[in-house]
Amino acid sequence: MGRHLPFYIWLAFIPVLVSSDFLVEQLRNVKKRNTIDGHPKGIEIYWVKIDCSVTSRFSRNVITSRAVNRANVSKEAFFDVELPKTAFITNFTMTIDGVTYPGTIKEKEVAQKQYQKAVSSGRTAGLVKASGRKTEKFSVSVNVAAASKITFELTYEELLKRSFGKYELFIKVNPKQLVNKFEIEANIFEPQGISDLEVEGTFLNNELLPLVQKSYSGKKAHVLFSPTIDQQRTCDNCTTSLLQGDFLIKYDVNRDIPSNLQIVNGYFVHFFAPKNLAHLPKNVAFVIDVSGSMWGSKIRQAKEAMIKIVEDLKEDDHFNIILFESEVRKWKDGIIKATPENVQEAKYFIGNITESGLTNFNGGLMAGIEMLNNAHKLKIVPERSASLTIMLSDGEANVGETDQFRIQENAKNASQGKYPLYSLGFGYNLDYGFLERLSKVNNGVARRIYDDSDAALQLQGFYDEVANPLLTDVALEYPENVISDVTENNFKHYYDGSELVVAGRITDNDLNSITAEVKAHGALKDLTFTEQADVEETAKAFEEQKYIFGEYIERLWAYLTIRQLLEKSSIATGYEKGNLTAKALEMSLKYKFVTPLTSMIVTKPEDDEEPEVVADKPIEGRNFFLFVMEKYPITNTPAIQIKSYPAGDLPHFGKIDGDPHFIIAVPQKEDALCFNINEDPGAVLSLISDPVTGIVVNGQLIGEKKSNNDVREQNTYFGKLGIANIHRNIKIEITTEQIILHNGVKRTAFSWLDEVILQQPSLTLVIKRKKSMEVSMDNGAKFVVILHQVWKKHPLHRDFLGFYTLDSHRLSQQTHGLLGQFFRPIDFDILEVHPGSDPEKPDATMVVKNNWLTVTRGWQKDYTEDTRHGLNVPCWFVHNNGEGLIDGVHTDYIVPSIFG
Ligand SMILES: *[C@@H]1O[C@H](CO)[C@@H](O)[C@H](O)[C@H]1NC(C)=O
Ligand SMILES: *[C@@H]1O[C@H](CO)[C@@H](O)[C@H](O)[C@H]1NC(C)=O
Ligand SMILES: *[C@@H]1O[C@H](CO)[C@@H](O)[C@H](O)[C@H]1NC(C)=O
Ligand SMILES: *[C@@H]1O[C@H](CO)[C@@H](O)[C@H](O)[C@H]1NC(C)=O
Ligand SMILES: *[C@@H]1O[C@H](CO)[C@@H](O)[C@H](O)[C@H]1NC(C)=O
Ligand SMILES: *[C@@H]1O[C@H](CO)[C@@H](O)[C@H](O)[C@H]1NC(C)=O
Repeated sequence: MGRHLPFYIWLAFIPVLVSSDFLVEQLRNVKKRNTIDGHPKGIEIYWVKIDCSVTSRFSRNVITSRAVNRANVSKEAFFDVELPKTAFITNFTMTIDGVTYPGTIKEKEVAQKQYQKAVSSGRTAGLVKASGRKTEKFSVSVNVAAASKITFELTYEELLKRSFGKYELFIKVNPKQLVNKFEIEANIFEPQGISDLEVEGTFLNNELLPLVQKSYSGKKAHVLFSPTIDQQRTCDNCTTSLLQGDFLIKYDVNRDIPSNLQIVNGYFVHFFAPKNLAHLPKNVAFVIDVSGSMWGSKIRQAKEAMIKIVEDLKEDDHFNIILFESEVRKWKDGIIKATPENVQEAKYFIGNITESGLTNFNGGLMAGIEMLNNAHKLKIVPERSASLTIMLSDGEANVGETDQFRIQENAKNASQGKYPLYSLGFGYNLDYGFLERLSKVNNGVARRIYDDSDAALQLQGFYDEVANPLLTDVALEYPENVISDVTENNFKHYYDGSELVVAGRITDNDLNSITAEVKAHGALKDLTFTEQADVEETAKAFEEQKYIFGEYIERLWAYLTIRQLLEKSSIATGYEKGNLTAKALEMSLKYKFVTPLTSMIVTKPEDDEEPEVVADKPIEGRNFFLFVMEKYPITNTPAIQIKSYPAGDLPHFGKIDGDPHFIIAVPQKEDALCFNINEDPGAVLSLISDPVTGIVVNGQLIGEKKSNNDVREQNTYFGKLGIANIHRNIKIEITTEQIILHNGVKRTAFSWLDEVILQQPSLTLVIKRKKSMEVSMDNGAKFVVILHQVWKKHPLHRDFLGFYTLDSHRLSQQTHGLLGQFFRPIDFDILEVHPGSDPEKPDATMVVKNNWLTVTRGWQKDYTEDTRHGLNVPCWFVHNNGEGLIDGVHTDYIVPSIFG
């Protein structure tokens, strides 16, 4: 938490298209963010207020920031806020010199069109993006005239989730300068009564902690933190601020009554979290990925966590451990009791785990589920017990069943909803969206484990959440004839420390009371609770609460419903998917939530609908994608040329595809650079060349089919690639017809019709029939070649190759080549954005490597959302064969032969 890897800021940023964040405006002040820190005669933030109100777990947070431009020229003011991923933005306004620019929520497509129109007319402030582990970043920049004042106000809402017996209100604090008046205030109202209140902060040292005022009594709690400007200083005369980090308010409510039912204005909400129940024994199938990619710290941390986890098993629990790589290996044939002896033996087994091979995801998962099926069939496990599968993987299936949909269906068919499946995705080299769908159809959830020094703790933390099942098959039921649109109300398991929440609409206007019935299986017996609530009673419970927003139950219901519709649409197909998405969109618009389907636009009232700011919600689980330029319409049904990427410690990456287009991501700028190389067909270009590891990649150009009298400029593509490790005497020659591997004197030829997985020390080669070839060398240099096939009789186009770097961390600092030189950090600045010759694509001046270049905003395609038309994603296009950006000139990179 709190650590912001620039890398995944870029990751989440990319799929969101509208995220390109510059104010495209002429005469824009060039000096960027560094002017705001300390603000000597610049933008001074003089007032920051974070105001949180919580009513029955539903929180509304308003962040207001007021700033003044103390300079005598116009300056850029930034408003950066990090909000919880689970929250939806509901409002944003800017007030400049007394004029308010309000936000409106629009359907994403509509918003994007307006945004692009605004970009091309040179006048938009861009924004939003990005995520840390728990947060998303909202950011806006606005040019403020000398001596002018600006106020930003952002509102977001979320349902607080109970976890480990506490609700947590999470506030990220980072004003970036000393603020004359800084205040965090929270007012919490819980009709059940508040039983506990704590405040923690990563930046709250011994001086700041006593400044936190907190109190609770009865149904209300209040927190206030308002350090003076001197108290904010890192030292007596310093101008840097201590206020940077997480501020957490944790509380719980009185649980004397296990459930709480409220009914207000035609909606009801029901919270259920009983206490003092006996724990159910649990039966856990641990399914652990031990494929080669888990090497290093991942496997070490997975083992460390697993040892702690098996130590924590209770004696009446049952478990088994299944390891999968290319092969699937079970520790024991079947599930066994967690006796001290068995636990000790399991620890030895875990201690001896080593990683190797590929990823037989389906094999491991099915072995786990079948084991639970057998245990129940043979009655090895107690009748009153909770069975679950916990699966850890760091990559995508590449051996055995690799089709994601079939894996999902296999698991669903095998487990029949009986065992929740918790999928833990380790790192970024995996399709997190798939894990979410897989878990969702199997009554569980997915969780990302960040590949960081605390990965073992993250794993244990997740396990702890599900370590204590209290109930199974929990059904919360309401009289059917008077209610509708009820959110999910059947839950496979209920875990200690959590809470079940159901909300719905009351269809009968005259109804003023409802009864809820809860049925569940407990450790000792089956349980039933009945609870009744009426309008008057709820109203009485809310008396004298002036800070309650009246329609909170309706909004809570809308929030839950939209979340569940989005989840369901992610696993639905056909009509059903369309209908679910349409419903989620309709509700997002109605209730003004910025969800993955909507955007917020801030318009200047006096300009006819010209947007200033667009706010979006990043989509978790889609991290790093490649985009193929739109310029080349490949086939009628283009293969989706998208690949998810590992984050790891890879500082940069590059790709080449199409004409050939070189695309270089610059994560710290959350942006990309691109250029073309125009050379004659037949020329061989050096792409990567590393004298230290001996890794070399070259590509040979081919032209389009062309008749002799055609004088148009000919587009070129890569028709042949050579990937070699000179030190190891390994060479791979790839054409659009075949792939030839030279290993020493041994020569093996494959066709693109083959499905190949080849593993040798220091080399893995995977060919996906007619699609792609992936090669990994020395655990840390990984490339993918994509085959683009066109219609054979096409008059112009012919098949060609795309080249992608997935991992370059083994390559040395001396790596060079058209792509290789960008594996080292590169920085650039963009100045003077102005309209270009194409009204859709503004020009700008880019300063890079001390060169001043004219660049053009280009667009790449992201086919993740819309596989037919794609969505545009921007990069700065450097003209003249990348001159000024690449070292030397492009002809320096011409080499004599594919391995030369
Ligand atoms: C702005 O302030 C700078 C010094 O801070 C001064 O040199 C300059 O003359 C001022 N410009 C105007 C237009 O007042
Ligand atoms: C958004 O916030 C502004 C400023 O506080 C307020 O005037 C406006 O009513 C809010 N809009 C909605 C839809 O709540
Ligand atoms: C802070 O500044 C004041 C006035 O400039 C000076 O008297 C004092 O010694 C400084 N304190 C420290 C700790 O540097
Ligand atoms: C490997 O297993 C053996 C016994 O099977 C055990 O003695 C040894 O401690 C284990 N190694 C580790 C690292 O746990
Ligand atoms: C579904 O599971 C049953 C048994 O659990 C099995 O016999 C059947 O082949 C499976 N069907 C599919 C389509 O996998
Ligand atoms: C989904 O939409 C289609 C077409 O609009 C409609 O025919 C169908 O009945 C809808 N299905 C459901 C389950 O709402």
